[in-house]
Parts: sequence; structure tokens; C-alpha cells
Amino acid sequence: MTIETIGVVGAGTMGSGIAQIAATAGLKIVLIDVTETALTRGMAALRSSLERLVAKNTIAAEVASATLARIDTSTDYQRLAEVDLVIEAATEQVELKRAILKQIEAVAKQHAIIATNTSSISITSLASNLADPSRCVGMHFFNPVPLMPLVEIIRGVQTSTETVDAIHELSRRLDKSPIGVKNSPGFVVNRILVPMINEAFFVLAEGVATAEEIDEGMRLGANHPIGPLALADLVGLDVCLAVLEVLAKDLGDQKYRACPLLRELVAAGRLGRKTRHGVYRYD
Ligand code: 3HC
Repeated sequence: MTIETIGVVGAGTMGSGIAQIAATAGLKIVLIDVTETALTRGMAALRSSLERLVAKNTIAAEVASATLARIDTSTDYQRLAEVDLVIEAATEQVELKRAILKQIEAVAKQHAIIATNTSSISITSLASNLADPSRCVGMHFFNPVPLMPLVEIIRGVQTSTETVDAIHELSRRLDKSPIGVKNSPGFVVNRILVPMINEAFFVLAEGVATAEEIDEGMRLGANHPIGPLALADLVGLDVCLAVLEVLAKDLGDQKYRACPLLRELVAAGRLGRKTRHGVYRYD
């Protein structure tokens, strides 16, 4: 199973990052979203990321322009008929993802792999909606995609070994380090990381310390690169809440109950860096 062309569905933070690293690795990309506005925004983020990498001498200017030349954008799902692999990176809502995966399968080549970048939703359940669930797999990247080396490769009950092997091989081609994970709520990293972020919101809500002090505490006392509240802003507060809801529902344990303050900020539209206001302001 050789993969030379990839369709990425969703031009948000994750989708544009995935398109970027795959194009840098030499693959041809079709980036799909529902509106031209979303595509324009995604490509602007991608360009800015490439500019930062060039400024740091991580990649040459020619690599950045070759990367851009390998990416095509479209609002037409029919374009997915050309690709060997589709990576779905839409909003973290189960019904939306189910509908998108179905739409992808309707147009994709018979042997194309259908991967989902879900942060926590069951791959077995998402795949069960498809006519051929054996080619559905979880391919979970981390934010910011160009900098974070990990990819979790999640095998649903129905996922074939051929599919899993092809995604492991591709991840290495993308210069990422894959780990194999059994389908389970939140997989490995988010199952551990997001409850820690949630706890930071409880500590903040209880007035134990200020947001800055909580973050400084975890940076200086636990050697985290950024504090948990700054990380929530980077990941998106809505994404953190969505992961917690899956953990609480699927694992049925009260310890995953989302902090009311996190809910309140999401309800207020304070989603983090992407809305320029979360725990902190980004003006
Ligand atoms: N593209 C290219 N370069 C980028 C970038 C991007 N998207 N974002 C940041 N950079 C570069 C900056 O240009 C900067 O370069 P410089 O050092 O030459 O100036 C460098 O990275 C450092 O950036 P900053 O100075 O802005 O900030 P930091 O020093 O804090 O580093 C970070 C940024 C590498 C993101 C670091 O904060 C970090 O590792 N944070 C933790 C990230 C993390 O845990 N991610 C996982 C989240 S969980 C997840 O994604 C799963 C999901 O399902 C929820």
C-alpha cells in the first residue's frame, strides 16, 4: 500500500498543520474544508508556520515554497477520489465526524485508507458506520503539529493490520515517532494530559493561586514547557472540554468531571489562542 497523495479534511489548526508536514515530506495534498474562508485562514496559518521554520533555519526557503506548491485546496469532496489516504481533522463532534467519514468513503478509492485525527472518540465506533471499517484508523497528531514528534496510531476492533502498518510507515516518512495504541477513550496522551489540565482549572477556580502562578508552578516545578492553562489555550478550551466529556461518558468515572469554570469559558466563546482569548488574552 503506497501513499503518495493525501486528502486532509478540515483546515483548522490540526488539519493545516498535518497538510504542512505531509507536503514538506514530499506528498501531494488536497486540503478540503466547507468554505473558502476556512481554507484561506488555514493556508495563512500554514504559511506563517513555514515562515517561522525558515526564519529559524529549520527548513530552507526552497523547501517552504516546494511545500506550498504541493498543496491544493478545495471545497469539493469529489477531489478525495484522487488520494491514497484521507485524514479527517474536523471539529471534535461525534455525529459530525461520522457524517464526514461516510462522505469520504462514498468518494474515496476502494483501497484508500480513511484516518481520523480524533482526540478521544472511539475509532471502533466511528469505523462501524463505514461499509469497509477495516481501512479506518486513528492517526492522532499533537499541537503544534510541525513541532510535536508524536503520532498515536489507534487500532479499532475492525482495523486491518495492513492499514495499521501503512500508517506506521507513513508516520515515519513524515518524520514523526508513532506509538501503537489500543482503542480506548482519550487513547494514551489525552487520557493523562487533559485531566491534568482540568485539575488546573479547579485549582484556579478555588483561588489556590493565579493563572500565572499555576503555570509558573508547573513550568518550574515539574519542568513542563508551558503551564497547563497556557496549554489549554494552545489546544483550545473547547477541545479540552470535548475530550473530558468523552472520558466521563465512556469511562463512567466522576474523576473526569469537567471543571465548571472550563465550561463557563467555553460557553463565553473564550476558546484560547484561536479566539484570542481563553485563560489569557492574545492581542
Ligand atoms: N510552526 C512553526 N514553528 C512554531 C510553531 C508552529 N506552529 N509554533 C511555535 N513555533 C516555534 C516558534 O517560532 C519558536 O521558535 P524560536 O524558538 O526560534 O523563537 C519556537 O517554536 C518556540 O515557540 P515560542 O517561543 O512561541 O513558545 P515556546 O518556547 O513555549 O514553545 C512549544 C512552543 C514548542 C509549543 C512549547 O510551548 C511546547 O512544547 N508546549 C507543549 C505543547 C504540547 O504539549 N502539545 C500537546 C498538546 S495535546 C494535543 O495536541 C492533543 C490534542 O488532541 C488535544
